[in-house]
Amino acid sequence: MSDIEIKRGLKDVYFATSEASFIDGNIGKLLYRGYNIDDMARNSTFEETVYLLLFGKLPTAKELLDFDAQLRANRTLPREVLQVIEIVQASHPMDVLRTGCSALGCLEPESATRDQHQVADRLLAAFPSMLLYWYQFHAGGKRIETETDDPSMAAHFLHLLSGKPADEMRIRALDASFILYAEHEFNASTFAARITASTLADFYSAITSGIGTLRGPLHGGANEEAMALIERFQTPDEAEAGLMDMLARKQLVMGFGHRVYKNYDPRARIIKQVADQVFEVTGKDPMLNIALELERIALEDDYFVKRRLYPNVDFYSGIMYEAMGFKPEMFTVLFAIPRTAGWLAQWQEMLTDPEQKIARPRQVWIGHDTRPFVPIEQRGTGVVTR
Ligand code: CMC
Repeated sequence: MSDIEIKRGLKDVYFATSEASFIDGNIGKLLYRGYNIDDMARNSTFEETVYLLLFGKLPTAKELLDFDAQLRANRTLPREVLQVIEIVQASHPMDVLRTGCSALGCLEPESATRDQHQVADRLLAAFPSMLLYWYQFHAGGKRIETETDDPSMAAHFLHLLSGKPADEMRIRALDASFILYAEHEFNASTFAARITASTLADFYSAITSGIGTLRGPLHGGANEEAMALIERFQTPDEAEAGLMDMLARKQLVMGFGHRVYKNYDPRARIIKQVADQVFEVTGKDPMLNIALELERIALEDDYFVKRRLYPNVDFYSGIMYEAMGFKPEMFTVLFAIPRTAGWLAQWQEMLTDPEQKIARPRQVWIGHDTRPFVPIEQRGTGVVTR
């Protein structure tokens, strides 16, 4: 056996430097370029957050106005992309996003006249249109116009979802969740996007890597799974018994735990407050009591306490999204769309880092030593089933 230590899950591996965001997992602290996530969620907008992540500073009023206009101008999609989306109508929204991203990359590739920054703005602005076009076509065969004059991405998204301009409360809630999901250090999807970027591949390729990686239930897909878990129980008592049963069976409790946070995820605390504001208008979702009970037990239970497992942002975002009228299969794209900002910021860092190298780790070889090739007629008649 080799004495090389394998770092499973790349735990505690440092891959590059970054200035985009910082997590202190022991105290549950998250900063975007030095600004506390609480301040960002309370005082900022998603567009302003994207600007901060991309340019490293908060914009002036004029800079923000120009950036907003730039994003608004990028909302419509080529007919060919819409046709592709119509073909994949029976798919999961995350697959639609990945496919739409690739399709746009075929039609509007990076070139001498379309640089990576223009592609970045385009993708950020086009994703909500892509998704909602698909949603309306898939749900009712409707071919909607994807252009609106809504000032923000959250307002545009909600407008296309319901067919009418959204109210301020819903816009603010979606906007706040977009801010919370925008960037998060070297999580799996950002790392995947960085690996693709490390080969100097185009930006569309990096983003499709990110989307594919985010889709998994251990990462962005956890919000959909956490909602499915909460919905399994009718009463808090059932939730308690169900949770104990899961632990006895050594099953993962979706929406709990984090590689870096060994304290309460600050985003979970904020999204809970935002969700309360939504419930004031929509009425309290009965699922909230189930979620609160699951959280209460987990925070007191030895299993969770010993392992420092806390609810993460995905545990609560789903309940809020559901109260706002989103179907669970849309939850993960509501994570992917804002995370595009983080992928973008880190991809830019990567390309401008003179120390950066292609990502190329090594394996610990556990296969055969050199052996002679056996001609096919000497391999016997057996059939190995796979
Ligand atoms: N339910 C039950 N046990 C858990 C859970 C959970 N959700 N998460 C971790 N554990 C246990 C794990 O089995 C291990 O136990 P033991 O020490 O007895 O082997 C211990 O806690 C340490 O866990 P780990 O597997 O070493 O943790 P990790 O850093 O490799 O995994 C994680 C992090 C987020 C993948 C994991 O906590 C998990 O699967 N959580 C559920 C999925 C989820 O909610 N994901 C969203 C993460 S937040 C949004 C995002 O950034 O993607």
